[in-house]
Amino acid sequence: MSEPSRIAIGILTVSDRASRGEYEDRGGPAIRSYLEEVLTCPWELVAVVVPDETDLIAATISNMCNRDGCCLVITTGGTGPAPRDVTPEATERVCQKLLPGFGERMRAVSIEKVPTAILSRQVAGICGQALVLNLPGNPRAIAECLDAVFPAIPDCIDLTDGPQITTNDARFTPYRRPGAS
Ligand code: MTE
Repeated sequence: MSEPSRIAIGILTVSDRASRGEYEDRGGPAIRSYLEEVLTCPWELVAVVVPDETDLIAATISNMCNRDGCCLVITTGGTGPAPRDVTPEATERVCQKLLPGFGERMRAVSIEKVPTAILSRQVAGICGQALVLNLPGNPRAIAECLDAVFPAIPDCIDLTDGPQITTNDARFTPYRRPGAS
C-alpha cells in the first residue's frame, strides 16, 4: 500500500502586538483547535506569528507553501481598513490565482452575526499548490468563517493536486465534484 501524502497546514497569525509578546495570540490556537475538531486525516502544523509588515507576511506565506509543503495556509488578522492592515495585499502578492468566492461567502455569513464584518477585506487564493485563506483577527471569527467555507476546501485542494483532506462527517459534508474520489 502506498504511503498517504503528508498533509502540512500553515497557521499564520498577523499581529504587531502578538509578535512583540504584548498580547497573547488567541487566533492561531483557535484555528488549530478548529482543525483538530474537523480533520480526520493526520496533519502537521506549521505555526508562525509575524507583525503587520507586507514583505514579511508575503515571504512567510510563500515559505509555508513553497518550502514547507503546506497544502493549506490560514492567516488571522490584518484584514481590516486600518493603515497597518495589509494581510490581503501580502496574500494577493504571492497568489497566482485569487478565489473571490471564499471572501464573499465568509463576509456574507459573518455579516449576519456582526455588522462590522463588512470591514474585513479577507481574500483567498492559490500560492503554488496551496490554498491560502485570510480570516479576521477576532478569535470568534475563526469558526464563523471556517464553517462557511470549509466544505469547499478538500475539493479545492484536490484540484491543485494536493493531498486528500478528510473531514468529520458529523461536522459537515464536504462538497465533491461528481466523479472525484
Ligand atoms: N467577522 C466575523 N465573523 N466576526 C468578527 O468578529 N470582526 C470584524 C471583521 N470581520 C469580525 C469579522 C471587524 S470588527 C473587523 S475590523 C474586520 O473583520 C477586520 O479585522 P482584522 O483587521 O482583525 O482582520
